[in-house]
Amino acid sequence: MRPSSSQQVEVGGEQPYTVTVGAGLLGQVRVPQRHVALIHPADLPPAFVKTVQAALSPTVTISVPARDECKTLAVYTDVLSRLAAANLPRDGAVVGLGGGAATDLAGFVAASYLRGVAFYTLPTTLLGMVDAAVGGKTGVNLPEGKNLVGAFWPPRAVWCDVETLSTLPPEVFREGAAEAYKHGLIADPSLLARVLSPEFQPGGPSLKSTLADAIRVKADVVTRDPTERGERAFLNFGHTLAHALEAHTHHAVPHGEAVGYGMHYAARLSRALGGADLTGHTLAFLRWQQPTPLPDLTFDDLWPYMARDKKADADGVRFVLLHDLARPYLGRVPEDVLRREFAGWQTDLIPPR
Ligand code: GLY
Repeated sequence: MRPSSSQQVEVGGEQPYTVTVGAGLLGQVRVPQRHVALIHPADLPPAFVKTVQAALSPTVTISVPARDECKTLAVYTDVLSRLAAANLPRDGAVVGLGGGAATDLAGFVAASYLRGVAFYTLPTTLLGMVDAAVGGKTGVNLPEGKNLVGAFWPPRAVWCDVETLSTLPPEVFREGAAEAYKHGLIADPSLLARVLSPEFQPGGPSLKSTLADAIRVKADVVTRDPTERGERAFLNFGHTLAHALEAHTHHAVPHGEAVGYGMHYAARLSRALGGADLTGHTLAFLRWQQPTPLPDLTFDDLWPYMARDKKADADGVRFVLLHDLARPYLGRVPEDVLRREFAGWQTDLIPPR
């Protein structure tokens, strides 16, 4: 299924697959498996679900709670039971349709049901397209933190139907742009201006090409490092603070906004450790994104969550930092610097409010 106006991004590795970016893909999706479980969030426009149902004739369609409400062990076990009740066989497939949370859950279901069945993703948000649906990180949250349970389970194919982005509230589109901007900071600086350009919007002339190039950054990284032995960790630029913000606020701060805030903190830490001053870029993004204001927070509110970050090792927490644009590294930051930059970060946030 490769309509000529679509763009393809290849993900390599042991089990290569293609990410297709185009318009009208939901109605054209095909998979070779005869039995399919379609998983989607309850707040997805019903027309999207009907279109995919017409294309795939799923054995079972499962609606799950919206956003991170679906990424719980309770929802996960309920979905597994429903697949078992529907007798989805081992040669069946799970298709995740929706935003990043739904595709993360669907992927973990696919990774574990009958010890693993085929998985496909149909992301319908910018965040899902640029990040969650590609690369096979699947999982659910625990009360103690984000994504603490999961598996690497790459999809067999990803279809990004850009028409779905036209139904998103503008603030949800801007939220998702954080991951594309992050790819600009860590790997492809041309994306910085392109993401903030008025042409990068649903239906805009540069939407597909900018989206495909942002996805290509992730595709290249996960091709070289599928299970995060090294450089894949760089995709977590801004995420140490972001995951803490999300967990502490019980997801009142949505992921892409948390990443926008987190990238600015990481840029400040990078500068404090001698890197180039990239805070102009991260503040420009926050001004463009217009995230919802944060509640009152202290460093000590967030520190327990940051300390549990998955990039922590036996010697403590590691942050993704930047020597300069496209020059990421993993580094440790002394606690006095973390605290001082947190105070500066809070002061910087006053203008975007
Ligand atoms: N979201 C970061 C990664 O997939 O590695």
